[in-house]
Amino acid sequence: MSIEHHVEVVESMLDFVREHLGSLLKPVEESWQPSDFLPDLNAEDWVRRLTEFRERAKALPRDILAVLVGDMVTEEALPTYQSWINRLRGLADPTGVSDNPWAQWSRGWTSEENRHGDLLNRYLALTGRINMHAVETTIHHLLNRGFDPQTQNDPYLGFVYTSFQERATKISHRNVATLAKRAGEETLHTICGVIAGDEARHEKAYKLFMARVFELDPAEAVHAFATMMKRKITMPAVLMYDGMEKNLFAKFSRVAQQTGVYTASDYAGIVDDLVNTWNVGRLSGLSGAAAKAQEYVCGLADRYRALSERLSSTGPEEFSWLAKVGA
Ligand SMILES: [Fe+2]
Ligand SMILES: [Fe+2]
Repeated sequence: MSIEHHVEVVESMLDFVREHLGSLLKPVEESWQPSDFLPDLNAEDWVRRLTEFRERAKALPRDILAVLVGDMVTEEALPTYQSWINRLRGLADPTGVSDNPWAQWSRGWTSEENRHGDLLNRYLALTGRINMHAVETTIHHLLNRGFDPQTQNDPYLGFVYTSFQERATKISHRNVATLAKRAGEETLHTICGVIAGDEARHEKAYKLFMARVFELDPAEAVHAFATMMKRKITMPAVLMYDGMEKNLFAKFSRVAQQTGVYTASDYAGIVDDLVNTWNVGRLSGLSGAAAKAQEYVCGLADRYRALSERLSSTGPEEFSWLAKVGA
């Protein structure tokens, strides 16, 4: 794979990206903000509002609360992701205020994403059920430790990674929304629903960018897809640490699996969805490494599905994130 060629291709996509920016990002004036979904602390009866909010939040089971903290910590590491996107070759924002469509996308995406961590952070703090110092320490460590998605600054690998990742986040937030509703926590149901809506739009964007790459450069596109799948999609918060638990991310993943928020079969489902979105099975005229890559990705979801059936439940987990008293 020649990264220089990939850079040329994404640079040739400027008009395409410019044309779609309007439907992929929402104008600020039409956007929700975190405070729209939280008790208004400026209201005269703020105590009553907050009390009712906290009563409703009591309904959430502890394991759901733990997964939500993990999701929030992931969202809060946004500075890491923006720096990473700006490192992808051909997508940079050289001045920080560039009107290059890729730079506009990167800043627009970041500003929409920034609300996710804000909203979940504030929601969780207001429930009174969280050890916020432990959670903040986890975010601090995570930003400090960074994250390497193994995309080597290659925009093709970057698009595969983000297409996967945005869909994975959409699924997690949607599932938490469903579980919150089941528990009778309507506020969180709404919150996770609106966040999932953003993730869905971002998923659409990255899939569209990569679909364009598949049109312009099919052999290299399928090769990049297979390369990312072989490396496995690592979740962005893999290096999370609360200062105590060495395997915190593994623990968080186990609870996500057990609660059904994000499971191994979701992983298989995402692979399937990407194969279908990009019509990988129907690409013709590939030879050599590209043909092999095509065969590899087309058979991958079934292999993951077989593997996911063998996962067993491991029982409840304890987290420093959850408050002991009143939790
Ligand atoms: Fe997000
Ligand atoms: Fe996202």
